Amino acid sequence: MKKLSGKLNKYSIAVFISGKGSNLKSITKNSLKKKASYKVKLVLSNNKKAKGILYAKKQNIKNYTFDFTKSKKLGIKVLKILKRNNIKLVCLAGFMKILPEYFIKLFNGKIINIHPSLLPKYKGLNTHKRVINNNEKYTGCTVHYVNKSLDAGKIILQKKVRITKKDTIRSIKKKVIKIEHEIYPLAIEKVLINP
Ligand code: GRF
Repeated sequence: MKKLSGKLNKYSIAVFISGKGSNLKSITKNSLKKKASYKVKLVLSNNKKAKGILYAKKQNIKNYTFDFTKSKKLGIKVLKILKRNNIKLVCLAGFMKILPEYFIKLFNGKIINIHPSLLPKYKGLNTHKRVINNNEKYTGCTVHYVNKSLDAGKIILQKKVRITKKDTIRSIKKKVIKIEHEIYPLAIEKVLINP
């Protein structure tokens, strides 16, 4: 996809969340910059209580809350919503459900995710705990394409942070989320402009 000019011609993206939505916030904030190539057209949460949904509402972003991973009928409904809204990219941001294979196939190559580790190391959950237990000197975050294997798709962007002896799970979480907010918007631009 080529660079779009003018504020009105931004690519539409969707953000899928399950919780706090701090990445959603940073992605949205960046989208409001003049030079941004994308706008957040819709937010979907599997969880009605997700804080991120309140943020989407405040920002007047179209939002949906239902767990479409439960049935193919609901999954197809979401694919239709994506099509209707001309969504070019789906960004998973703390979306805690595994996407069904048919969904990934039908929206092929246009789904990305952020993971709080330096992939391919520490796929899955509880990354910071495992990083500490293994006495790692560095950790970080990764934005990657989503394929049918968990946290294993092609890497788009990574950033690392140093771990010191004083660090705890909590302090590492804080360091990592900070760099997540930096790289996710950059990764989105990269995928849209220069895949
Ligand atoms: C982030 O650490 C992300 O890497 C992981 O879930 C967390 C979501 O945080 N997949 P938030 O909801 O964006 O604040």
